[in-house]
Amino acid sequence: NEQTFIAVKPDGVQRGLVGDIISRFEKRGYKLAAIKLVTPSKEHLEKHYEDLSDKPFFKGLVTYMLSGPICAMVWEGRDACKTGRMILGATNPLASNPGTIRGDYAIDVGRNVCHGSDGVESAKKEIALWFGKDEVISYKQSQFDWIYEKP
Ligand code: GTP
Ligand code: MG
Repeated sequence: NEQTFIAVKPDGVQRGLVGDIISRFEKRGYKLAAIKLVTPSKEHLEKHYEDLSDKPFFKGLVTYMLSGPICAMVWEGRDACKTGRMILGATNPLASNPGTIRGDYAIDVGRNVCHGSDGVESAKKEIALWFGKDEVISYKQSQFDWIYEKP
């Protein structure tokens, strides 16, 4: 089953949005596979965003991500990466539709509340970076048969 790495960034944690963000993924039908509150090192965050290291906003991005605790999660279910990004909204909150997390709660691209893996391959890399194998839990979601049609 497809998994995605979702994080509530420091602004989202400080603004009390963790519960709402979890709730949106729960209510959609996704299964929570891992969750923890963390304060990662600068090196960890530079690795997480390594593809953006040549961008002019990279230093500010890392400083932002270091500014407080982050709620790191793994959510599992059909098409979790692509749909997860739809639940978050566009990178720039001003381009995000209302009804998305960023479209409901953010204005500035540099304070956009949440992160989501941009594909299956990056999800695998990110989950391995943020979680130990024993922290990602495999279990049967009791609502499963009410969310998915039987094959
Ligand atoms: P993430 O889910 O956080 O990875 O965002 P994304 O995949 O929608 O966008 P991307 O990976 O391209 O950028 C990562 C993060 O860098 C964004 O979420 C923003 O917080 C920040 N960022 C991206 N573009 C800009 C920019 O033009 N200016 C500033 N200040 N920050 C940016
Ligand atoms: Mg990204």
